[in-house]
Amino acid sequence: MKESKLFSGKRIPLEMHKAKIVQKLSLVPTERRLQAIREAGFNAFLLKNDDVFLDMLTDSGVNAMSDRQQAAMMVADDSYAGSRTFTRLESTCQELFGMKHFLPAHQGRACENILSQALVQPGSVVVTNYHFTTTKAHIVLNGGIVEELPIAEALKTTSNHPFKGNMDLKRLKALIDDRGSANIAFVRMEAGTNLIGGQPFSLENLEGVRKICDAYGVLLVLDASLLADNLYFIKRREAQCQGLSIREITRKICDLVHLLYFSGRKLGCARGGGLCTNRDDLLVALRELIPLYEGFLTYGGMSVREMEAMAVGLEETMDEEMINQAPEFIAYMATELEKLGVPVVTPPGGLGCHINAREFVDHIPQHQYPAGALVAALYIVSGVRGMERGTLSEGRDEAGGECLADLELVRLALPRRVYTLSQVKYTIDRIAWLYEHRQMIGGLTFVDEPKTLRFFLGRLDALSDWPERLAKKFASDLEKI
Ligand code: F0G
Repeated sequence: MKESKLFSGKRIPLEMHKAKIVQKLSLVPTERRLQAIREAGFNAFLLKNDDVFLDMLTDSGVNAMSDRQQAAMMVADDSYAGSRTFTRLESTCQELFGMKHFLPAHQGRACENILSQALVQPGSVVVTNYHFTTTKAHIVLNGGIVEELPIAEALKTTSNHPFKGNMDLKRLKALIDDRGSANIAFVRMEAGTNLIGGQPFSLENLEGVRKICDAYGVLLVLDASLLADNLYFIKRREAQCQGLSIREITRKICDLVHLLYFSGRKLGCARGGGLCTNRDDLLVALRELIPLYEGFLTYGGMSVREMEAMAVGLEETMDEEMINQAPEFIAYMATELEKLGVPVVTPPGGLGCHINAREFVDHIPQHQYPAGALVAALYIVSGVRGMERGTLSEGRDEAGGECLADLELVRLALPRRVYTLSQVKYTIDRIAWLYEHRQMIGGLTFVDEPKTLRFFLGRLDALSDWPERLAKKFASDLEKI
């Protein structure tokens, strides 16, 4: 954002695009929002969009497409086998990632299913900088064990460490020594580490991880779903990469890993996914699972239109003025909230602005889901839909006990190029009101709790009439009569 310094001395993020197609939004009254969150079992995933004003649940599949992406969709070559569209997407991946094999899949978790089925044995270990919900579920489903080795700084919500997504190299070596390299299915580095607040790893750290993997003959896998944000942060924060283009940094990262997979709902601003590798043995291990679970090898469950859009979207990811959009808006939101005393994750990461619910509602114990309660409260007072990223998003242990999350975060995702600065300002304002009235927020309890990935479909209830009291106070303070 070259020109963002204003005469007034203020800094604002600038939209490096203009709107050509818009969708009308509505902001339903507080009373309806209260009813809607009750109907949704206090689970933001179960809200209907008609009741949502600003959807900051996720960036997944909802980033705004460019005009070039839309145009590409019109020339898609529809065919079960051998489509020209597939060849185009394959060539783009080969060129950008420097990997000769591309396997298509319908989204990120489909890649995780295939990867886990092919490489995870009962009792084998996947070592990661931090887990992601669906990744862990697939590894565990195949009998694997997930070991997380984030650096200590990763779990500190306030920090000025530029790369909180780094892996602890000493602990990685010690863990492989302890478990034996034969028992390590693979080491997984997640770009833009989702559950700790969209935090990046550095190229230097990835180089260190690869060195250790080489020394022990262990596979290194990259989850590149949030690579765009990670690329931006490496370019901005890592001295050795200042002189490199985004394209060059991408190649440096990809050259260090044996395999990468991505959710095309995030990377490439379309809907789909894929796995890339240079290794023929990995191709053979993975390839036959694609027609079994996804679709033929030249579409993998994706629509050709989305594949065309993804090819263009991946290419556009190499443009710094495209990938800076989310992080710059997130930094603005986090900085403004910090000024108001609202506890947010710092440094601001990618994907979304993350509120530290443990501090915001420090009177709500973890087993009453403070982050889930805060998501519900924020929806009631604003119509903004965020996502719980805390204990609710974890599962239970074998004995049925809660696995208390390391962090209790409310994620306000900023899908790329979707929301304007005034919408971000509105959100900040409502969070500020809620912070003033935070003691009014109470806890939640499950009334219907699914066994797997319970946060998606689980239904909860409030532990008192706090939602009614909060709604009433908000309406009397700020609702237009
Ligand atoms: N890996 C990471 C790092 C992700 O953030 C996601 C999805 C996936 C894998 C799975 O990809 O959704 O295409 O199946 N994250 C979404 C989110 C759901 O909202 O953060 P998917």
